Amino acid sequence: MQRAIIEPNPTPPADSKAASPSKPGSLLQHPNSVAAEVRNLRKIYNVGSPQAHEALKDVNLSIRANEFFTLLGPSGCGKTTLLRILGGFEMLTSGTCRIFGEDVSRLPPEARPVNTVFQQYALFPHMTVRRNIAFGLEMLGKPKAEVERTVERMLDLVHMREYADRRPDTMSGGQRQRVALARALAPQPKLLLLDEPLSALDLKLRQKMRLELKSLQRETGITFIFVTHDQEEALAMSDRVAVISNGHLQQVGTPEDIYEQPQSRFVADFIGESNLIEAKVADSAGSEAAFDIEGFGQVQAPIGQRVEVGQQVWLSIRPERLVLGAVHREGPQATVTDRTYLGNAVEYHLRAGKHALTARSPRGGLRGRQDFAPGDAVSLGFEPGSIKVLLS
Ligand SMILES: Nc1ncnc2c1ncn2[C@@H]1O[C@H](COP(=O)(O)OP(=O)(O)O)[C@@H](O)[C@H]1O
Ligand SMILES: [Mg+2]
Repeated sequence: MQRAIIEPNPTPPADSKAASPSKPGSLLQHPNSVAAEVRNLRKIYNVGSPQAHEALKDVNLSIRANEFFTLLGPSGCGKTTLLRILGGFEMLTSGTCRIFGEDVSRLPPEARPVNTVFQQYALFPHMTVRRNIAFGLEMLGKPKAEVERTVERMLDLVHMREYADRRPDTMSGGQRQRVALARALAPQPKLLLLDEPLSALDLKLRQKMRLELKSLQRETGITFIFVTHDQEEALAMSDRVAVISNGHLQQVGTPEDIYEQPQSRFVADFIGESNLIEAKVADSAGSEAAFDIEGFGQVQAPIGQRVEVGQQVWLSIRPERLVLGAVHREGPQATVTDRTYLGNAVEYHLRAGKHALTARSPRGGLRGRQDFAPGDAVSLGFEPGSIKVLLS
């Protein structure tokens, strides 16, 4: 069933804060405009059959022009489905999908100001790099001189000039991916969709391409919607990230927001690492509350929402913000069960009552920082503001 919601005037997105400052070279788009917007978006595959599967559940999202925006979540959470709906390769079940204000829900891919780079870069193996990049422009009927000019510019942009007359099958994965990017960027789409474009590359090349992609986005001013399951990749490249789990949008924010202020257990756990501890509200006054942790004692933490005494919550603490000390005072204690040397840090596994915790110290045992061994009893300290209270 199609239930398209038609809005004659797009309402400003709920999450539109002050737009980020215009990026250099971004002449294409007005920095305040909304590049893509989905409202009440649902996607059910095999609707009405026993194999029906709801891949997207009421997703609302606004992506600003000039943003490097990332859809992040585990495999199967619906990232590709959302990207394919934006690109026009998949029909939405209900809701709306707008691109630069226009309702594109029923437009075919070629009628949208959008280009896509897929996971498997589908270059023409028998054509040179130059011909691969020119192909799409020729299909659009661009004049020959303009095609040539654009191709040369794209070759420079992705640093592939010296490979212009080679065929893709004689090149490395990273080089082929650069050609795929150049080909997708050549027609100057207003929006570029990228579905895990780096996943086929090895780690070193992936890290290099991260930086290249980010600067490519800055230089062109084209809005990028990038899909990945790799949280490090998402944090490193994005202006904002949308975390998706099981077809639900969990949280949207800057990399810092997502890492520092997770709003659910899923986000706290999926982005980086977290100690998640069950606790009960013991006392609550204003913006602070005290929490009882079984077999552990009481801790204080700031709260962003109302909580009731006795309410069950989760506390999230990053391993690097858990501070170990010698046992010399009252307060939470733990026993070291394992110590792992990681080169740039030392990781301690701890047991405190029924809770297993992880602490990471950047200079464990070095430069005066105290080191601990398995079997040691330690006191647990929390850096101010390090305990996040999560209700779901
Ligand atoms: N064509 C399809 N028919 C039926 N189910 C599909 C189809 N494509 C994807 N799915 C299902 O929808 C869910 C989301 O898939 P997908 O968007 O590919 O996830 P992701 O890209 O995050 O890994 C998965 O459970 C997947 O099995
Ligand atoms: Mg996918």
